[in-house]
Order: sequence, then C-alpha cells, then structure tokens
Amino acid sequence: MKTTKDFLQMKQKNEPIVMITAYDYPSAKLSEAANVDMILVGDSLGNVVLGYDSTIKVTVEDMIHHSKAVRRGAKNTFVVTDMPFMSYHLSKEEAMRSACRIMQDGDADAVKLEGADEQVLEVIKSLTAAGVPVVAHLGLTPQSVGVLGGFKVQAKDVESAKKLLEDAKKCEEAGAFALVLECIPKQLTKQVSSMLTIPTIGIGAGVDADGQVLVYHDMITYGVGRVPKFVKQYTDVQTLIEEAISNYTEEVKLRQFPEGIHSFTMKEEQLEALYG
Ligand code: KIV
Ligand code: NA
Repeated sequence: MKTTKDFLQMKQKNEPIVMITAYDYPSAKLSEAANVDMILVGDSLGNVVLGYDSTIKVTVEDMIHHSKAVRRGAKNTFVVTDMPFMSYHLSKEEAMRSACRIMQDGDADAVKLEGADEQVLEVIKSLTAAGVPVVAHLGLTPQSVGVLGGFKVQAKDVESAKKLLEDAKKCEEAGAFALVLECIPKQLTKQVSSMLTIPTIGIGAGVDADGQVLVYHDMITYGVGRVPKFVKQYTDVQTLIEEAISNYTEEVKLRQFPEGIHSFTMKEEQLEALYG
C-alpha cells in the first residue's frame, strides 16, 4: 500500500496521483483493481448513495459504516475518510474522538476535513500530532454550501484568491499531507501547487493539480442526474442497469424467466416414489 511519503514523492517526481471516491465493497474492489493510488470515502455518499440533497445529514456513524466496507474491498489501497458536517467543530476533543473512531472502527488510513479557519487548523495540528494523517480541503467546501450560497466556482476574484493561497499555506503548515482543491480557477490551482510541498488533488480545478479526484457515481454515470461541468463521464452504467432490470421485469411477467437452465430438477423415479 502507498503511504503519505509515497504521495509526497509522487509530487516531487511530477507523477499524477489518482484518487476516486468509493463507498462500499464493490466500488472499492473495482477501484483497487483499476490501480488508483488513493480512495476517498467522501461524505458525498450522502448525495450519491443515501439520496440526501447535501452532505449535511451525513453522520460519523455513516462514515464508519461505509469506510469499513471500502476497506474490505480495497485492502491494499490508501483510504481517506471524510469527517462529516460538524464532527470537528464543537471542540477539539470531539474532533479527536470522531477521527479516532473513523480510524479505529472505520479502518481508514487518513481523514479529510474542510476549511482553514483557526479552529480547523488547530484540529489539523492536533490530529497530525496524534498520528492521524490529514487531508485538507479548500475552494468549494460542500459542508458550507449554505454559507457559500450554492455550488459555484470559488476564489474567482483577487481577494478570495489571495485568501485561498494563504489558507493553503496554513493547511500545509498545520501538518496536512495533501490538499483537495475543489472548483477553483485552473490558474490558481497551478499557483497553489507550485507554492506547496504537499500534493494538491483537484476536482474541477484544472490539469495542474498534483492529482485528480472524481466521484465514482458521477464518472461512471450511476444513479446520478445532471453532473457538474468538471466531471468527465467515462461510461454510462445506469442505462445498462435500467435496461437489464426492464428486461427482467418483462420476462418475469411473460414467464420467460427462469428457463430450464436456471432451474433444478428431481429424478423421475424420485417423483414416482413421491406421488405414486
Ligand atoms: O465527498 C467527496 O466526494 C469529496 C470530493 C469531491 C473531494 O469531498
Ligand atoms: Na467530501
């Protein structure tokens, strides 16, 4: 399994880091088989797996449940698990306890949290000091969607771009080993990436991040509607799945399924003995 040190070296060698989200055993297993470098058990599971319209309702319990399943499917891949909404804001103790549970019960290798205000930076410091590798997350931070006023490109003006550059530096100084940059102008990604020693992992942040991450369900078109502009849909499995289930429905109604090959039989003499 790759380690935080490997990710740092990949950046130094200019080798892109591939991350994808996964939420359960099969998605983890297929991602590992496809040789991704890192898996994120994102709180986006609230949207794509649990059917909520934001990540706000996701709990530490939910994250642990899915993280464990991911670990069973990807034993040899570095797994980062999101700390969900408000699980790291009430107090430092609470944040430490949530992270501890995600690591111990959820079998994660690292945690990710959003933002860089003073309190979050303190948490990044404390977790790192306690031995928990931390991924920071700046730009569009979905747990703050209510404050940001929607899912929009962030840091487009000079002032907010400056703030992002400062925040990125602070995350690195606090001890984060990687930084997710979501939905920011590509030029800013380039600047942040060249300024930092730790790798940046972009989503909707252009090609100059040190790595990329996409949401599993978005990139294979699985149970999702309209996806953001920054998503590339590499395949469309939902059409295949819908067709398969429609065919099944029709064949059951017409008694075309199951056929002989799907059925078990009893020997003639056994039948005679049974019915006489
Ligand atoms: O929850 C998630 O999937 C994420 C990625 C979009 C970075 O945080
Ligand atoms: Na997330």
